[in-house]
Amino acid sequence: MKTLEGKVAVVTGGSSGIGLATAQRFVEEGAHVVITGRREKELKEAASLIKRNVTTVVGDVSRLDDLDRLYAVVKEKHGHIDILFANAGAGTIAPLAVATEAHFDQTFDVNVKGVFFTVQKALPLFKDGGSIILTSSVSNVLGVPGFSAYAASKAAVRNFARAWTLELKDRKIRVNAMSPGPIDTPALATTTGLTAEQAQQAAAQFTTQIPMGRRGMPEEIAAAVAFLASDQSSYVTGVDLAVDGGMAQV
Ligand SMILES: NC(=O)c1ccc[n+]([C@@H]2O[C@H](COP(=O)([O-])OP(=O)(O)OC[C@H]3O[C@@H](n4cnc5c(N)ncnc54)[C@H](OP(=O)(O)O)[C@@H]3O)[C@@H](O)[C@H]2O)c1
Repeated sequence: MKTLEGKVAVVTGGSSGIGLATAQRFVEEGAHVVITGRREKELKEAASLIKRNVTTVVGDVSRLDDLDRLYAVVKEKHGHIDILFANAGAGTIAPLAVATEAHFDQTFDVNVKGVFFTVQKALPLFKDGGSIILTSSVSNVLGVPGFSAYAASKAAVRNFARAWTLELKDRKIRVNAMSPGPIDTPALATTTGLTAEQAQQAAAQFTTQIPMGRRGMPEEIAAAVAFLASDQSSYVTGVDLAVDGGMAQV
């Protein structure tokens, strides 16, 4: 049985990695998805992979005008939202001693301000009884050298889920965080600022810290997000669901 039949889902950062795999899974489960990302070409390619029941809106989640445009399209096309996966985010390496103000601002603009206003601006369109899932990270509880601003931004995201669970309970909207461990997506090689060799070393290093002994696949994250999006998780709200091969659990 399909678990998201006829639902309308917005997925930010839907053109790559975790967001793309989740948008694909949502559609397989019967949903219509609206995906966002800044790069138009990648977004269109993602839509081709998803094949059906997908709308693309180019935009940057840290820009409030772009979010307004996103939700104007959702309103015109679907009239409402059932599921929001606030997933767009990134982290670049910058040890404390050398990190710049621009690095700090960019990290918090996308990962914290972006998530905050992605959710706030979705609320008028949200159906009572909907589900909001926020992408945090195992780094919300781990010390990760070189990624302290990123880890702190993801701790902020985890906490958003707590307050918003209470703020939105009367509308029966559930809010959960989902924290991936190291996942095999383009991010490590393309957005962290690591060289290809450093990215390979980092992936190998992460693997030694994961009880399951391997990085996760985007599809494994998508399965967990689909659970949180559906009525199968009807009594789950406010949690931080780690999907991390045990990395931050032992
Ligand atoms: N991969 C991991 O190991 C891992 C672990 C823990 C948490 N996470 C989190 O999982 C989420 C997805 O990461 P991923 O690994 O799937 O990365 P990814 O493959 O690089 O995908 C990131 C997606 O977010 C979009 N994006 C980035 N900045 C954006 C912005 N300002 N506005 C709109 N869209 C934006 C990207 O498209 P454009 O570049 O075109 O905008 C892309 O679609 C992130 O929040 C990340 O922090 C990842």
